[in-house]
Amino acid sequence: MKLPNGPQIPAISQMVRWIANPMSFMEACAKRYGEIFTLRLDKNLPPMVIVSNPQMLEQILTNDTKELAAPGEMNQIFESLVGKHSVITISGAEHQRQRQLLMPPFHGERMRSYSQVITDVTEQVISQYPIGKPFNIRSVTQAITLRVIMQAVFGLHEGTRAEKLQHFLGDLLEKGSSRLIVALLYFPALQRDFGPINFWGKQLRRQQEADQLIYEEIRERREQPDSSRTDILSLLMAARDETGQPMTDEELRDELMTLLVAGHETTATALAWAFYWIHKLPSVRQKLLQELDSLGNNPDPNTIFKLPYLNAVCCETLRIYPVGILTFPRTVTTPFSLGNYKLEPDTIIIGSIYLTHHREDIYPQPQQFKPERFLEHQFSPYEYLPFGGGARRCIGLAFAQLEMKLALAKILTSRELKLVNNREVRPKRRGLVTGPDRPIEMVVTSQRQLKSAVLQTV
Ligand code: HEM
Repeated sequence: MKLPNGPQIPAISQMVRWIANPMSFMEACAKRYGEIFTLRLDKNLPPMVIVSNPQMLEQILTNDTKELAAPGEMNQIFESLVGKHSVITISGAEHQRQRQLLMPPFHGERMRSYSQVITDVTEQVISQYPIGKPFNIRSVTQAITLRVIMQAVFGLHEGTRAEKLQHFLGDLLEKGSSRLIVALLYFPALQRDFGPINFWGKQLRRQQEADQLIYEEIRERREQPDSSRTDILSLLMAARDETGQPMTDEELRDELMTLLVAGHETTATALAWAFYWIHKLPSVRQKLLQELDSLGNNPDPNTIFKLPYLNAVCCETLRIYPVGILTFPRTVTTPFSLGNYKLEPDTIIIGSIYLTHHREDIYPQPQQFKPERFLEHQFSPYEYLPFGGGARRCIGLAFAQLEMKLALAKILTSRELKLVNNREVRPKRRGLVTGPDRPIEMVVTSQRQLKSAVLQTV
């Protein structure tokens, strides 16, 4: 049966637009073809159906029958970075098992134990930025999220190995965000190492250096086990599968890399956008400060986490420019009915988080930043899905939300910041995710004290 309509331009032109600006390409297609359309990025690849209808998204993301294959195989695009044993690149029972091993550190009590780390790291980082000296807010948020995830994964962010690893990882992700690297990911045949002058080769060497440090850390932990450690690496090293086998070093490396990569870049970008919107729109900043100040000095992290307006600001930040614009892909294995279409085996289906978040019928005036939407209305998990959904939903969802809220609360209540200029910033592709299309320059104008605290000292 016929596939949903889609652009008729040659596959190579579609691929170029997809790599250069996936958001404007998807917007143009949605305008012309509606909430389900087909792209052909390469004539040797199966057609790719892009969906932004919440009912269809629910049908795709919650389908655990044999009609749709999980994204493991399709996620090979991530393999060069996170390896072939990562939760992202595996599927089926193996994926479920690995997910179960990874979930506990991201729940309940464990999660709350990261609150102090987040607040301390945020203060350490922001205090390095003196009053009056402009900086790119993304450098601040990236330094925060990298240190926090290092602490959660390895239980440390100081010391030579941790510092080296932070350096390699920052560099690896920064360079990996270029369009050239993205193009190489989509064309694996070009991923060759031609020596040190070669771009891909350089990326490989950065990766090998980061790997070496991770393997050193694993070896040292095996030689000197410490049962009192509660970090994610210790937890994974202690885990056993149903046959009593521990994870191999390679498996451990792949999962650690996955968490470091997935947990750092994404949250850093989301936080940078939040700072942008809060300072771009004075009324948002004013309402937020009023809410934060009402908690007094040294508020409890749990109370901060539950603040309604802060939550609405974070939700709207991830709605308007979601960092992950797509869900992981699914492959049709047996003919699959979706809307009025019957999709044939091998067809790839991808949920467009970006298009769903910009539907006029769900989010009136979708291009406007309005946190109030989240106070006035409860959206379904398939209308609002910045962390994806179903069996592949983001493992770090609660961790990312906690980190965003605590870092924002810490900085906004202790410093006055402003944008260096009021120019509009738009999203663009950054590697396999998205980010601001130019540096968001900000400056600390003064230290800030709670109004009630000032009154008490007078
Ligand atoms: C604002 C921050 C973040 C955003 C927007 C985000 C978004 C996403 C999205 C869209 C997916 C794909 C879900 C799907 O296809 O259904 C995903 C998967 C994933 N995320 Fe996140 N994420 C964030 C932070 C984190 C953090 C902090 C961690 C861990 C420390 C993390 C770990 C993962 C992992 C391991 C997966 C793969 C899950 C699987 O395949 O089973 N993410 N994330």
